This record gives sequence, C-alpha cells and structure tokens, in this order.
Amino acid sequence: MNNENNRGQWASNLGFLMAAVGSAVGLGNIWGFPYKMGANGGFAFLIVYLVLVIFVGFATMLGELALGRKTGLGVIGTYRMLNKKFAWVGWLGFLSGFFILSFYSVLGGYTLRYAIGFLMELFSEGAGFGGMGSGEFFGSFIINGGANLLFHGIFMALTIVIVMGGIASGIEKFTKIAMPALLVMLVIVIIRSVTLEGASTGIAFMFAPNFSAFSEIGFMKVLKTAAGQMFFSLSLGMGCMITYGSYLSKQENLEKNALIIPIADTIFALMAGLAVMPAVGAFMSQGVEGISFGAGPGLLFVTLHQVFSVGMGGFIGNLFGFVFYFLVFIAAITSSISLLEVCTAFFIDSKVQKGQVANRKKITIIVGLVIFLIGIPVGLDGLGSGVAGGATIDIPAVVFGMDEVRVAFDCWLDFYDMISEGVFMPLGAILMSVLIGWVLKTNIVKEEVEASDGIKMKAYAFWDFCFKFIVPIGILFVLLGQLDDFFGLGIF
Ligand code: TRP
Repeated sequence: MNNENNRGQWASNLGFLMAAVGSAVGLGNIWGFPYKMGANGGFAFLIVYLVLVIFVGFATMLGELALGRKTGLGVIGTYRMLNKKFAWVGWLGFLSGFFILSFYSVLGGYTLRYAIGFLMELFSEGAGFGGMGSGEFFGSFIINGGANLLFHGIFMALTIVIVMGGIASGIEKFTKIAMPALLVMLVIVIIRSVTLEGASTGIAFMFAPNFSAFSEIGFMKVLKTAAGQMFFSLSLGMGCMITYGSYLSKQENLEKNALIIPIADTIFALMAGLAVMPAVGAFMSQGVEGISFGAGPGLLFVTLHQVFSVGMGGFIGNLFGFVFYFLVFIAAITSSISLLEVCTAFFIDSKVQKGQVANRKKITIIVGLVIFLIGIPVGLDGLGSGVAGGATIDIPAVVFGMDEVRVAFDCWLDFYDMISEGVFMPLGAILMSVLIGWVLKTNIVKEEVEASDGIKMKAYAFWDFCFKFIVPIGILFVLLGQLDDFFGLGIF
C-alpha cells in the first residue's frame, strides 16, 4: 500500500504491457532494425537475432523485471538494496538514461519536424520543406541549430508532460492510446508499401536467406551487430525494465510478461521493416533517383523522405509521409518517457525512503530540463557537420588528448552514444548477470516470480542456464563490438 500511495503503480497488467512494449518499440525498431537486417544477411541476421532474443533477451528481461518488483525501487535503489558493493552499477544505468535521452530527444525532434513538414506540404506545396530535395533539406535542417533546439525542446517538453502525470495516469494512460494508434498507422503504411510496383525487391532484400553474409561480413560481426541491436531495442541494460517492473503489482505473472515484451518488440521490428524496405525497393527498381538500400543511418530521413516526396509524390505521398513520420514520432516518445522515468524515479525514491512526499511534477521538470541542456551540443553540431562555424569542441581530443581515436566519434551524438550504449550499458548488464547469477544466486528471481499467488516458475532451469552462462557471453560481445566500432580496434 505504501508503494501505491507514494511511488505509483500500473493500474492493470495490460497498461504495464503497453508501457513496456512502448518503451521497447522506438527508433531502434523503425530505423536501426530494417537497415541492419538488410545489410547483415537478411534472413540469416533474423535467425541470429531471434536466437539472441530467446537466450539472452528473455532472460535479461525477466531478471530486470523481477529485480524491480522485488525491491519496489528504481535502478539505483535496487542495486543499493541488493548489494552495497554493487550500488554503483545502478549509477551506470541512471547516467546512461541522461545521455541516451539527450540525443534520443534530438532525433525525436527530427521525426516531429518531418511529420509537421509533410502535414504542411499537404496544404501548400513547399510549405513543409521549402521546395528542397530530400538530401538538401536534411543537410540544411541538421545545421540549423535554432530549429534543432526548438524541436528538441518540444520533444522533451512533451516527454516531461507525460511523465509528470505519473505511472497510471501519465505513462500508462498515454501508452494505452498511443500503442494501438501506432499499430494501426503501421498497418496502413505496410499495406501501401507492399502493394507498390516492385515491392518484392525490398522484401527480398530483407528476407532472402543470404548465408554468404556470414562469410563475407563475418559471422562474429553479424553476431555483435545483432546483439547490440537486441539490447537497445528491448530497452535492456540500464534499468528501464527494473524501473517499470517496480510499479508492477505482486499479482502479475512476471514470466509471461517477460515473454510477451520481446515477442511484441520483434513483431514490431519486422513490421517496421515491411513498412520501409518494400517502398525503398519499389522506387529503387523503378529508377527513382536517390533511393537505395545502402543509405544505412540515412535511411530514415533522406531515403524515406525521397520515397514519399518523389516516389509516391503528390497528395498521396504527403499523406503517407505524414502518417509515417507521425508514427515514428509516437514510437519515439513512448520510448523517451521510459528513459526519463528511470532518471526521475531515483529522486522520487530518495524522497519516499526518507518518508517525505515526493513532488513528481517538480522533479520531472528539473530532470527533464537538465537532459534538455545536456542535449544542446547534440542539437547544435548537426551530427558532426559543425554548425557553430566549425566551432564544435572536439571533446575526445581536448579531454582525452586522443587524436587518432577522434575519427571514430567526431560528433557529440556518437560521443554520448559511446559512453552510454558503448560502455555503461553493457558494463551494467554484465555486472547484473554476475550479481544475480553468481553472487546472489538465481533463486532470488524464482522467489520473486513465485511471490504471485499460485504461480510456479515454469522455465527456471532454462532461465538459470541462460542467465548464468549465455547472457554474460552475449553482453561481452556487445561490449567488445561497441568498443571495436568506436575505437576502430579491428577485433571483428
Ligand atoms: N528501445 C528503444 C528503441 O528501440 C529505446 C530505448 C528506450 C532504450 N529505453 C531504453 C534503449 C533503455 C536502451 C535502454 O528505440
């Protein structure tokens, strides 16, 4: 009861699932998954990804949810309560939240800008993108510091407003509307995409079994890409699911929930692929300029803009462009609220533990504002194109005096990403698996699962094995893979 009055609690298990799946489904699914899958062997990548979800994703998800529900605290409180020596692991997650959200919000701002752009184009040609081509518009937008900060600010403000509302009447209420709406919009875009002439090229690019990727790209490289993608996509490794689990009632079945979230996330990722790749393939095979599978990260903003504005074109193009970017924006915001909640929860827990009443609104605004400020350099440096007249501070060189390494992250976004996703998160996740799997022993999770009336843990043996052995090895791959990417170590 104490829990309910002070910290908040999900009103229903369905509401919790909407929020958790909302956290998982985001830019990672819609942006990262399709192009990574296509570039890493299509169907072959999918199989590796699915194996990882089953043996690493499910186990980690259940571990995080169980820890959170057991302690009833956010990530810092949870680690502190479980083991004093591991308390700092919570801080890794908490700090990751600040860094990830600060750049996630800048990118979320981009999606909002594009949605508004297509909406305005619907009413008057040229009103949304100033008559520029997709590449030109993107180039001019990212170096427009003022516009970037404006949209970063709007995105952060919306995130704050939802989180301020609390667990049941803020996050849950929003995601219960947003997630079904997201699904409907996605289905509409998929139908349009797969019925275009030449769509099969895109479907083949994504799904055609191409095991030669294992030898051409290298199996290890495919594995590390899939592993990194899986952790990010499932919101694992920084305590997001610990925090969401802490608001879950003791009645609910943790094991079932830990199964549903990864399944739903994977389905959404595949659906996003079906919305995006067939359209790209269709216009590529029709010979529309500037459209190819090879855009990598440029896929979401440059290639797809071209797909809607030139490929489809006209009213229909603008309409689908709007629906698509709006759905990406919704997916991004249901993820950003979970990141903000991780940071906010720490301050709320601290108050509650002192027996004081936490002022959620005030805490959320302050934390959100700090994250907005941390994101300013990301918004200003135009993904490394150096808006401020080339005046971007070269952090790696200045702070660490590492000259050669600088090329690996010559923009703030990469730098924040390296700290959070590259180091803090895999480190935090590996320590979690050591703490639960080896220090505390895994029956603490079994006990928590079985704390619900009449529920017996069904997959304990499987889970125990995965958690002790496969999870740490999987994360080690992520850690080495990220370091390899950022520092160009050439391990893989
Ligand atoms: N999973 C989200 C995506 O795919 C992003 C996200 C939300 C996240 N919360 C997280 C990633 C926590 C890592 C950790 O876009």
